[in-house]
Amino acid sequence: MKARFVDPFTPNRPIDEPSRFFGRTEPVTEIVDSLFQIKNSNPKHTIITGDRGVGKSSLLIQMELTATGDNRLTDSLKIDRGVNNYNFVTVWQDVDSTQNVFDLSLAIISKFESSFKKFISGFNLEIDIAGYATIGKDKNSQANMNMMIDEFVDRLLKAEKEAIKNGKDGVLIFVDELDRIKPDSMISSFFKLVTERLARNKIKNTAFICAGITGAVQKMEEEHASILRTFRDVPLERFNKEEVEEILCDGFTRVEHTVEMSKLDIKAYNVTVGLPEPVHLKAS
Ligand SMILES: Nc1ncnc2c1ncn2[C@@H]1O[C@H](COP(=O)(O)OP(=O)(O)OP(=O)(O)O)[C@@H](O)[C@H]1O
Ligand SMILES: [Mg+2]
Repeated sequence: MKARFVDPFTPNRPIDEPSRFFGRTEPVTEIVDSLFQIKNSNPKHTIITGDRGVGKSSLLIQMELTATGDNRLTDSLKIDRGVNNYNFVTVWQDVDSTQNVFDLSLAIISKFESSFKKFISGFNLEIDIAGYATIGKDKNSQANMNMMIDEFVDRLLKAEKEAIKNGKDGVLIFVDELDRIKPDSMISSFFKLVTERLARNKIKNTAFICAGITGAVQKMEEEHASILRTFRDVPLERFNKEEVEEILCDGFTRVEHTVEMSKLDIKAYNVTVGLPEPVHLKAS
């Protein structure tokens, strides 16, 4: 009878385990540099861009782990963190396609309170979510944009102050699937205005780390040409042959499976074109 084993491949979900995360030394180094800059009051907002299934969410998850003190990935990649470990308060938001920019900002704010509870035990952050929610009542009014940004930045200021007061490095807002937001939602203007307002209010230990599909993010430039100047773009390339082989061999070794196929690297690479999703799919 065939022995049962846990499938080491995960085609349907991002990598949360640092030891299963391959390659990516360069983008990880860049984002760790962003963390270092943000901790040292030189905020850098970052956007990870790449093809569908190339590994954006996996990288974002790894960076949240690193930002909250998990050094496994940076240690294994031998990346200098600049500090022993990071200690940020983090908020994570997956954009959903029904959201406009107000819904997104409300969702972010709504997560602050529980995030603070998680990272600072017994702490309650009171940032008047109900008050913020009333701004969105009149969804047609563009005049609301400025007011919304003022109110949003006010709350970020409060969150950052409390984070620093409690010995944290600052506040990081992770936003995944940014490309899913409605094209007419003014997301680019929102980010541009918020980041400018943060700088003007000397809120220097708070930053966004986002991810989105390449084409869709470039599309955001149509709304606001300087969006890619606001964010540091960290492009994710497809994997090369050696990396594809590494992912496969690691999975097979974990379940003590030996593969006897010559030129496995080339064959696997040709089928998967360097995208990790089909690598996991074919192998599992
Ligand atoms: N660095 C990596 N090493 C090994 N496998 C990876 C790596 N990055 C991603 N994968 C695998 O590739 C697949 C896609 O990863 P992920 O969901 O992170 O991609 P994505 O770019 O966020 O996809 P989408 O565009 O659908 O949101 C998953 O099966 C994941 O386990
Ligand atoms: Mg994803």
